[in-house]
Amino acid sequence: MYNMKKITQNLTWVGANDRRLAMFEGVYSVPKGVSYNSYLLQDEKIVLFDTVDKAVHHRFIENLTHALDGKPLDYLVVQHMEPDHSAVISDLAARYPSMTIVCNAKTLAFIKQFYDIDIDARVKIVAEGDTLNTGKHNLHFVMAPMVHWPEVMVTYDSTDKILFSADAFGCFGALNGALFADEVDFARDYMDEARRYYTNIVGKYGKQVEMLLNKASGLEIKMICPLHGFVWRNNISSILAKYVLWSRYEPEEKAVMIAYASVYGNTENAAEILSSNLRDRGIKTVMFDVSVTPASDIVAAAFRYSHLVFASTTYNAGIFITMEALINDLVSHNIQNRTVAIIENGSWAATSGGLIRAQLTKCKNMTFLDNMLTVTSSVKAHQLAEIATVADALAATLPVKRNNSLSDLAKPKDIDPSTMFKISYGLFVLSAKDGEKDNGCIINTVTQITDHPIKISIAVNKATLTHDMVANSKEFNVSVLTESAPFSLFQNFGFHSGRDTDKFVEYDENRRTSNGICYLTENTNAVISAHVTNILDYGTHSVFIADVIQAFTLSSEPSATYQYYFDNIKPKPQPAEENKVGYICKICGYVYGGEPLPSDFICPICKHGAVDFEKL
Ligand code: FEO
Repeated sequence: MYNMKKITQNLTWVGANDRRLAMFEGVYSVPKGVSYNSYLLQDEKIVLFDTVDKAVHHRFIENLTHALDGKPLDYLVVQHMEPDHSAVISDLAARYPSMTIVCNAKTLAFIKQFYDIDIDARVKIVAEGDTLNTGKHNLHFVMAPMVHWPEVMVTYDSTDKILFSADAFGCFGALNGALFADEVDFARDYMDEARRYYTNIVGKYGKQVEMLLNKASGLEIKMICPLHGFVWRNNISSILAKYVLWSRYEPEEKAVMIAYASVYGNTENAAEILSSNLRDRGIKTVMFDVSVTPASDIVAAAFRYSHLVFASTTYNAGIFITMEALINDLVSHNIQNRTVAIIENGSWAATSGGLIRAQLTKCKNMTFLDNMLTVTSSVKAHQLAEIATVADALAATLPVKRNNSLSDLAKPKDIDPSTMFKISYGLFVLSAKDGEKDNGCIINTVTQITDHPIKISIAVNKATLTHDMVANSKEFNVSVLTESAPFSLFQNFGFHSGRDTDKFVEYDENRRTSNGICYLTENTNAVISAHVTNILDYGTHSVFIADVIQAFTLSSEPSATYQYYFDNIKPKPQPAEENKVGYICKICGYVYGGEPLPSDFICPICKHGAVDFEKL
């Protein structure tokens, strides 16, 4: 039975998934499966972008036939000739005799090499910049040689601003019912697979990927449709930012990847001790046994991290087999710009270290640490200092060095809580939706974390209903409050609980962003919609890390700051009754009668803690 997905009014995904494939291209394990994407554009002329692998031929034909509903297929655009995308060309040529194949000259040669079909009379050859009008849509063909084969081209639909990107922006993993990257927690569940796909499939061709990125930078792109993995329609900048780093061979993280090959555990022991030393210095490490972890995972990690340590026993007077394969793989994938440390082991003639270095010297801009550690059979006590020296040398080249020593931690008596009030904050209405329920609360902790992609963090008190709604739905809006915001707005959103009030009932003019969540239209100068990618638990509060998916400004009025609120919005406290003993909440004015104020007291109105109370 057909199983297709609508992308837009005119565009349908007619691809299919394969979860039985053991090794993609015969070399890359795909434990989460893989999707073969094909897209059908139905305009006055009907166009199919690429076909699929022979393993999913049947499902693809069912999808295509159903989507066409008896209409003829006018064009097949062949963007990439690797057989996982071209296996059904001959079948389509036979089924749709009036179909024209749109491809470049190189592609035509490849079609003839792979398949025995006579298509010369029904081919439209295109080159860089050529266009095809299908009615409402204008398709522009952009050559992308070596991303990943020489014939590759991508297609830009300038009508809907969609880039059909061939292998670029692809990802391992079956689609599991979703089609769009924003339907899943891509950063958590798929970014590793996107990196593994990129680095292993097109990692060698960084220059060519950069050229394609340069061409794409001149286009307005609202959607990316790759040949494998999810379609991008939101937060496209997040995957673009990764591609910029990967194509330039720049690391994503300043941290150390340790890959080791060990026969009897002694080389592994040296690697473990080094990793432990690095952790003691506050440096993140990841470790791989190259005889166990597939090389494609280690290649991806080598692209991710800035510092690489290779530890290998000597075997047949050379590098251990699995390590030798890994090093060759890294060299052929063009790894560059890394700092490298090497550990070698050998019971009578250690050679692996020098050989690893000689191989990696072929790569551009590699910095080798001088302190190569040679183990003779097993690590001895006197070598612990040598390992510490290697750790020091690595640490010296990592810019962020934390000292986790307990003795260096500030003691509570050294912390003056009022210092925190000197930090400048804004004020915001955080809104969320859970089912039919709208709710919101006041927060002062919205911070932009990164620019590419744009990520923000918010800290939210767990006692609030909005906290639970954001945690459940993973979506929220932030309305940035202006200096015109009245105290009543703060009372409405800050001093009541959404559990027994409808905080939006007064806000008739509220509108909703594309995530369906309300935002304020008055006393607000900007609105940000975000999708939560990570939740950090900090006792009384959760910190939500989120990708910005929509953001727009409403006015040029100045934003309200926390200080402005205290100085100009919040009513001044009335003189305390004579001899009255107690504490007043500086946030909402609630008065706690009595002495002393319990240190764990939470304001029943605005949920702020004892630190926000002052003596009457
Ligand atoms: Fe799935 Fe280079 O192709």
